[in-house]
Amino acid sequence: MPKFIVSNSMHLEGSVSIGGSKNSALPILAATLLASGNSTIYEVPDLSDIQNMTSLLSCLGASVTKTDNKGITVCCKKPLPDVSSYELVSKLRASFLVTGPLLARCGRVKISMPGGCKIGSRPVDLHLKGLQAMGAKITQGHGIIEARCKKLTGTKIYLDFPSVGATENLIMAASLADGQTIIENAAVEPEIVDLTNFINLMGGKIVGAGTGTIKITGVEELSGQTHTVIPDRIEAGTYAAVAAITKGKIRIENVIPDHLKPITAKMREAGVTVTEGDNYIIVDATEKPKATDIKTLPYPGFPTDMQAPYSSFMTVAERTSVIIETIFENRFLHVPELVRMGAHVKIEGRTAVIEGSKKLTGAQVKATDLRAGAALVLAALAADGDTEISEIEHIERGYCNMDKKLTSLGANITRTE
Ligand code: UD1
Repeated sequence: MPKFIVSNSMHLEGSVSIGGSKNSALPILAATLLASGNSTIYEVPDLSDIQNMTSLLSCLGASVTKTDNKGITVCCKKPLPDVSSYELVSKLRASFLVTGPLLARCGRVKISMPGGCKIGSRPVDLHLKGLQAMGAKITQGHGIIEARCKKLTGTKIYLDFPSVGATENLIMAASLADGQTIIENAAVEPEIVDLTNFINLMGGKIVGAGTGTIKITGVEELSGQTHTVIPDRIEAGTYAAVAAITKGKIRIENVIPDHLKPITAKMREAGVTVTEGDNYIIVDATEKPKATDIKTLPYPGFPTDMQAPYSSFMTVAERTSVIIETIFENRFLHVPELVRMGAHVKIEGRTAVIEGSKKLTGAQVKATDLRAGAALVLAALAADGDTEISEIEHIERGYCNMDKKLTSLGANITRTE
């Protein structure tokens, strides 16, 4: 299995261009199932999660072709509403996002129940409650969820928690329902806005995306369209953290600086200088960083996906920081590995206390999940000696060419086959 070998690489400098957002591309690819014609989605990152989603679309009867500009064209004349293969669903939790479009388009869907994953139990009750409220009859058994309806009917749905995936699934289902659906306590992440922009281009009638109340007026049919996904704010935040931990200066291009505010605000508090342009930021971290506390929250709070990379940064900051993870119950899997590298971190429940200013040392470590893996790459850049990171397939689910991008900034990183 491939590994990353990383040697101490301080003061990284240069510029790096950010790819399209994985978390936007996944629901948008699922939304292409809402129309029978061709949709072409540009700036889709070349990642294993995306390959798994396009394989799933093919299994559902779609024709999927790659085009220029990281484009993917999907055409699904007649979707097959059966995704009962657990193998397929367990590879990619976002595969559950096809439930809303398939139910709306075919009147039924049979899908394997997604299991938990390392970072938490990740139930889908909010997705199902919302679909039920729209009139779907749902049965569950033997690891399979089956939903049926004559036609979904618009209704009011209050989400107990602003789940990103549930908001996306319900928006897609409601787009082809009879009448109006109002989702309250909806997720407000930029990826929700990107998805609704795409559906509105297809002929959908959605207002309020980016606020807690989204109103969707169902339409008879949607038509295939062309759309470019927004830049990946988590990839951008990770390279900001690379500059911060290596005391470097990196220009991060192709970003929407507003989407990065929850991250850049914390970096500034830590003593990092962040300059914003129209579509770039420059992160200059030549000063000794100060410890800052973070608490992960739904957008526009500090993103849970940046918690692990930011924690690595805090291991080298002056004094002690407190990290509270409120979104996922088990998202400190990077901590035992950071401790192997000399970090001083104590975990109690959903809180990690990091005693900063510790000298990190290279070690053999394991990427247990996507963002935990990114955190280890960051720590390895700042560590004395060599670090061998195994199970990097997790990192490559969400970061395109990370080794090449870091090398271009001056890092000493190699990927072994
Ligand atoms: C998405 C992102 C993921 C990010 C997360 C939170 C994608 C493909 N993934 O995941 O990178 O970390 O948002 O920003 O976009 N929950 C329930 N019941 C449900 C649904 C969710 O209890 O029906 C809980 C989850 O277990 C979790 C919390 O709500 O504790 C947040 O989950 P959610 O916002 O749904 O995240 P995802 O859409 O899975």
